[in-house]
Amino acid sequence: MTAVPADGLDAGAEGADRAGGAAGADGGESYRLNVDGFLRTVNGASIGDSLLTVLRDTLGVTAVKDACEQGRCGACSVLLDGRLAASCTVLAADADGTRVVTVAGLGGAGLARAVRAMFLAEGAVQCGFCTPGFVVAVTDLLTRHPDADEEEIREALAGNICRCTGYGRILAAVRAVQAERGALRSGDAHSSGETQRHGETQRHSDGGPDGW
Ligand code: FES
Ligand code: FES
Repeated sequence: MTAVPADGLDAGAEGADRAGGAAGADGGESYRLNVDGFLRTVNGASIGDSLLTVLRDTLGVTAVKDACEQGRCGACSVLLDGRLAASCTVLAADADGTRVVTVAGLGGAGLARAVRAMFLAEGAVQCGFCTPGFVVAVTDLLTRHPDADEEEIREALAGNICRCTGYGRILAAVRAVQAERGALRSGDAHSSGETQRHGETQRHSDGGPDGW
């Protein structure tokens, strides 16, 4: 198995590889997956293998957790071209040509950093088995809907199961992220106003204090 930075692959070669979806030398399927920004070659997989199985068992991406394998617990959550998905319900071969992002690929800054930090700060991590899936789901929710209210948060996270925390600590962590990000936005707006009042010409970054 090989890993190639996705941005560095020759487009023609990528197209040829995808078009193949070919049988490998040992008779299994051979294709490439873009996982966390790297093109990973999958050889010898079964056509019926789920994305979860290929990520964990073939590519060694153990940040994606395996629990129910029926799309009911959210432990295996990933983003597929930016859409939240249970990787156990997706055929790996069907993910060829999509961007697969696991909790490990969310990055160490901005919103994903805040979500991870608040899960720890609020005690939303106990055994931790559900945490990678929750971090992916919460980051997805707050990216799309930063000011989600409690009902919307509960609805968005209904597909993620935690056996340890009783969900209260997880909800508190989401609220803490929203408070922190809201405060940053307010601070940025306030600073902007101060700048205008004092007639300064310096512009603030469009991305906010840490890129969100
Ligand atoms: S392992 Fe995929 S939803 Fe439970
Ligand atoms: S912290 Fe143990 S399952 Fe959620």
